[in-house]
Amino acid sequence: MGSSENEFLKRYEIESHDFSRAGNVSTQIKELLQEIGIDSSIIRRAAIATYEAEMNVVMYADKAELFLTVNPERIHIRIEDKGQGIKDIDLAMQEGFSTATHEMREMGFGAGMGLPNIKRNADKFNISSIPGKGTSVDIIFCLNETKQK
Ligand SMILES: Nc1ncnc2c1ncn2[C@@H]1O[C@H](COP(=O)(O)OP(=O)(O)OP(=O)(O)O)[C@@H](O)[C@H]1O
Ligand SMILES: [Mg+2]
Repeated sequence: MGSSENEFLKRYEIESHDFSRAGNVSTQIKELLQEIGIDSSIIRRAAIATYEAEMNVVMYADKAELFLTVNPERIHIRIEDKGQGIKDIDLAMQEGFSTATHEMREMGFGAGMGLPNIKRNADKFNISSIPGKGTSVDIIFCLNETKQK
């Protein structure tokens, strides 16, 4: 009963600092999930979470790989970035905490709501980081249980 038979994996690259292309990968993932017929409420939550994680790479990391795995049980989005990392994850997870620059705030970012928003929307969420190396984020949506968010 190997799950690999009905599982697929797709890999994306996220470029940093490029605000003109920011959001590109989360849009592609949203469209793919629509094509394969995922429930629209899960797509909405996945799109929000992926967008927030993608923007954090654009703003705070150097580059990232995003791995999307879908099987009948779940959607798993893993984002592994290379960059400055996060020294204090508990602090970064707090609503309102942000190290966004003045320029980022002028563009409407820096409310310090991205990570809390990812956690709220996901069924499972994990973040780990090595300062000076990078950050990894795992975002999971369960497909065969009804969770209203
Ligand atoms: N991938 C990352 N690499 C390094 N630091 C990060 C990363 N993601 C988040 N951070 C740090 O955690 C803080 C909080 O992130 P969060 O997404 O919650 O808020 P924000 O990006 O500052 O503002 P918002 O998401 O509301 O626009 C960031 O300001 C930044 O210091
Ligand atoms: Mg953010």
